[in-house]
Amino acid sequence: MLQFDQITKTFGANTAVDAASFVVDKPMMIGIIGRSGAGKSTLLRMLNRLTDASSGAITFDGVNVTGLRGAAKRSWQSQCAMIFQQFNLVPRMDVVSNVLHGTLNRRSTLSTMFNLYPDEDIHRAIDILERLGIAQHAPKRAEALSGGQQQRVAIARALMQDPRIILADEPIASLDPMNAQVVMQSLRDIHEQDGRMVIANLHTLDTARRYCDRVIGMRDGRIVFDGLPELLTTAAAREIYGADASFSEATTSTQIETTAPAKEHLAGIAAL
Ligand SMILES: Nc1ncnc2c1ncn2[C@@H]1O[C@H](COP(=O)(O)OP(=O)(O)OP(=O)(O)O)[C@@H](O)[C@H]1O
Ligand SMILES: [Mg+2]
Repeated sequence: MLQFDQITKTFGANTAVDAASFVVDKPMMIGIIGRSGAGKSTLLRMLNRLTDASSGAITFDGVNVTGLRGAAKRSWQSQCAMIFQQFNLVPRMDVVSNVLHGTLNRRSTLSTMFNLYPDEDIHRAIDILERLGIAQHAPKRAEALSGGQQQRVAIARALMQDPRIILADEPIASLDPMNAQVVMQSLRDIHEQDGRMVIANLHTLDTARRYCDRVIGMRDGRIVFDGLPELLTTAAAREIYGADASFSEATTSTQIETTAPAKEHLAGIAAL
C-alpha cells in the first residue's frame, strides 16, 4: 500500500533522513519515535511533499508520490492531511470556519474570499465536530478553546479533506496528559472506524506503545527499529535514543507537569 524505498534527504552536508525503507501493507496506526533531530518531521514532510526527497522513492497504491507535479501533487497532499504540534488554526476565526478551511483546495478563490461554503459542507463540518465531541464550540473563536480542543478542531479540518492518511507531527507535545489522551484516542478511533492510516511522530514511548500498531524508531536519520510495540524493550529504546546505561524510560514518558498555570489547566479539564 505504502512503500518508502531508500528515501534520503540532505540539507547541505547534513543527512536528515538516510536511506529509510519500510512497507505498510494495510492501514494501521504507526508511531515514529526518536530523539530531537532524528529526522521524524522530515520523514513525514517528504510523504506529503512539503519537502522533496533528495533520492529514493515513495509509492502509494502503485503511484510514485515523489514524482507528482502540479494538480496531481496537490491532490495527493489533500489525501494525506497533516496536523501539527501548534494546531495551525486561524485564532480569530470561528471553529466551524477553521474546519471548512479543510475544503479550500477544491473551492474557487471567489467563494473563498467571501466565505461562501455550500450547506452540505457546513453540515459535514458540524457532523465531524460532533464526532470529535466539540460541536458545542462551533461558533466560538478558535483561540477561545483549550489546547486539546484546538487540536481536535485541527483533526476535524484534516477529516474535511477525507484523507487516506493522517500525518501528525507531535500532535500532543503541547498538551497536558488528559488532553493528550483525548487527542490520541480521537486519532485511534479515526483509524479504527474509518480505516484511515495514521502516522504520528511521538515524543514519548508510552504513547507509542499504548496507541500504535507499529513503531518505527529513528536515530541520526536511519530507521533503527521497526516492529510491534511489544518488541520495544528498554534495550531497543536505548538503541533508538542513543542513551547510555543510565537511560530511564521516565525520561521519555509523558510529563505530568504542564506549563500552563494551574487555574487554566483545571479550566481545560472541566471543559472537556
Ligand atoms: N529546512 C531545513 N534546513 C536545514 N536543515 C534542516 C531543515 N529541516 C530539518 N533539518 C535538519 O534535519 C535534521 C532532522 O530534522 P527533523 O526536524 O526531521 O528532526 P525531528 O526528529 O523531527 O526532531 P524534533 O524531535 O526536534 O522535531 C536535523 O539535523 C535538522 O537540523
Ligand atoms: Mg520534528
